[in-house]
Amino acid sequence: MNAREIRPGIWWMGAIDWERRMFDELIPLPDGTSYNAYLLRGSEKSALIDTADPSFREELLAQLADVEHLEYLILQHIEQDHSGSAPDVLERFPDVQIVSSPKAAPMIADHLGIPEDRVLTVENGDTLSLGDWTLEFILAPWVHWPETMLTYLREEEVLFTCDLFGSHLATDELFSGDGADVCSPAKRYYAEIMMPFASLIKGHLGKLEPYAVSLIAPSHGPLHDQPEWILEAYRHWVNDPPKNLVLVPYTSMHGSTGRMVHHLTAALNDRGVGVRPFHMSKTDLGEYAIHLVDAATVVFATPTVLVGPHPSIVFAAYLTSALRPKVKHAAVIGSYGWAGKAAERTQELCGALKAEWYEPVFTQGLPTQKTFAALDRLADAIAAHHQTLDRGG
Ligand code: FEO
Repeated sequence: MNAREIRPGIWWMGAIDWERRMFDELIPLPDGTSYNAYLLRGSEKSALIDTADPSFREELLAQLADVEHLEYLILQHIEQDHSGSAPDVLERFPDVQIVSSPKAAPMIADHLGIPEDRVLTVENGDTLSLGDWTLEFILAPWVHWPETMLTYLREEEVLFTCDLFGSHLATDELFSGDGADVCSPAKRYYAEIMMPFASLIKGHLGKLEPYAVSLIAPSHGPLHDQPEWILEAYRHWVNDPPKNLVLVPYTSMHGSTGRMVHHLTAALNDRGVGVRPFHMSKTDLGEYAIHLVDAATVVFATPTVLVGPHPSIVFAAYLTSALRPKVKHAAVIGSYGWAGKAAERTQELCGALKAEWYEPVFTQGLPTQKTFAALDRLADAIAAHHQTLDRGG
């Protein structure tokens, strides 16, 4: 993809990665992604904000081929998908001044091998002049690394946000418009990357309120030319109470746990409770994460393997806890062959989950009428806790 001028003097650069299907060997990317960099040509000086994943270094260098001078390379975030081509930019422009937050400077040395004395560090509110344009830096730690900062181009009211407000979406559409096509990928991105830091993001959203913003330029996915929809979406995701929704991550080896999930799902549904089962060997992890943004309850359903939960439920429990959703209640149900501690061990994996736990429901072998009665009581208890919650959309 060639560089594209998004406003006079402001150029999109970087790469659209149509083929990538996995990030961090963990996060599925059903729609690919992009690595957005931005070239700002001020009246006196030029700045490049972020770079691109190193696998696209040649594409970025080709986009920079006709750029005669570059005074600043602003690294808002040091994860390699944005900073990874910085050494190549330095080679092309040996005198360029790297600009970053104070926390980023040692990370630039650690991750990129660039000495700290090449970095000009800026504090919150510091500015940099490009001549007719002024860049203001807004430190925004933990979205989602500790060194992250945002950059505000005052005269144009453009906010460059790196990962914040991004989406893993490969598209040749530069702008998200009213958000109809981007809201779902943006929510997936929020769930997988930002949700563990929701309380800090809440503070950052407040910090951004005084700024007039006509364009949000993230480093993944389309730019937000109608910024209010993404800001409002983030306010909802961060602030709204959980909804009337139960998630049931499950797997089943010989059918017993599967029958229990089937029974509980129907029982919850009969009681007016929204429910989504996710077979952990088959589900798209991103779909599970998206629903975790809203869910009030999670019920882990697992057969017993070597006394503990099935490995796919170990993964589900660990991930659920790590993403720190708003979940208020949780339970473990399942089956065992001869003995087991699957419920206790699943709970132990959820140490960061601030949830109240229901009594586990387990059966030896096939579920019986007694098992189904216990599941009905669990459904009653969940329905009682959910009766004041909205179903949501
Ligand atoms: Fe897109 Fe945290 O890197």
